[in-house]
Amino acid sequence: MKGLILAGGAGTGLRPLTHTGPKQLIPIANKPNILYCLEDVRDAGITEIGVILGENMPEKVRELLGDGSSFGVSITYIVQGAPKGIAHAVGCAREFMGSDPFVVYLGDNLLKGGIREMAEEFSKGDAEAQVALCRVPKPQRFGVAELDEDGNIISLVEKPKEPKSDLALVGIYFFRESVFPIIDELKPSWRNELEITEAIDNIRKAGNLVRAHVVSGWWKDTGRPEDILEANQLILQDLETSIDGDIEEGARTSGNVRIEKGSRILSGSVIKGPVVIGKNCEIGPDTYVGPYTSIGDSTKIVGGEIEDTIVVGDCIIDCGKRIVHSLIGKHSKILSSEDEKPAGHRLIIGENSSVMI
Ligand code: G1P
Repeated sequence: MKGLILAGGAGTGLRPLTHTGPKQLIPIANKPNILYCLEDVRDAGITEIGVILGENMPEKVRELLGDGSSFGVSITYIVQGAPKGIAHAVGCAREFMGSDPFVVYLGDNLLKGGIREMAEEFSKGDAEAQVALCRVPKPQRFGVAELDEDGNIISLVEKPKEPKSDLALVGIYFFRESVFPIIDELKPSWRNELEITEAIDNIRKAGNLVRAHVVSGWWKDTGRPEDILEANQLILQDLETSIDGDIEEGARTSGNVRIEKGSRILSGSVIKGPVVIGKNCEIGPDTYVGPYTSIGDSTKIVGGEIEDTIVVGDCIIDCGKRIVHSLIGKHSKILSSEDEKPAGHRLIIGENSSVMI
């Protein structure tokens, strides 16, 4: 079996973070989303992986993944270019897949528990395609499957206004080469994309078996800022303590905390896990870092409190305030204006930023 990881798409829902790279590279617990996907595919025993590149800084994906050897896989890059839909992206991989069965993993999805079991099921079985499903509170945001009493799929609809079930299509799909001629026949949808959901439904309508696998752990599609923060919480829940940095006398940590090499926690600071702090950071003095916070490399936080937040890296936060539920992009500065005249908030923020004060 081969793998296909999608790293295209415009990422408009995540601006301004996607002004500096594809959405699939946004760090969740300090690790780019796409690496979780790559590891899931690799851990299912799949080492020949195609990576679909879009138009938004694809070179950053190449830079991170290289030829795959440092992750124990072999990567072939396939250029999709303009975002014309998931089915279009899959169609671009026709030559790479040849006659092998394959798994498609959307690079902005995160799934607890990986895909090994599903890959084994598909390899052993006679299904023409296999989808992963997850119960969600707002199915209308996703592709939705309707199952009969025996667990067979009766319908698959992309973002239905009136969903027939709460079973969303997870962005992980298994196919055989039979999917390619079906993709050829697709017409663009209302959002001007070739929809993978429609392709799968057409495989089913042609009388083939499409297997449904309802996942038992959590699943996240990290398409919106609130999803990224939630994904960060879910990953940090399983964090294990490892301290490679220095914790000065008078500073303390509690709960599960990872502090990487070259980082220093200065006196009077409290780090309450789960928290991950990357390399070469300086936290303190007298600073509180609360649960579900991920702080990227080379960040300095002086005073104040921060909680349930992702700081991508190379940031300076020195404002003495309490920051919560925030996503702070690379090279950002949050400083105090209290001693400045005239008094007031001073903002230099880029396009599509969002600030609540
Ligand atoms: C896509 C698929 C949808 C699926 C979702 C999973 O949606 O079209 O069926 O449920 O991924 O992440 P999109 O992210 O394009 O809105």
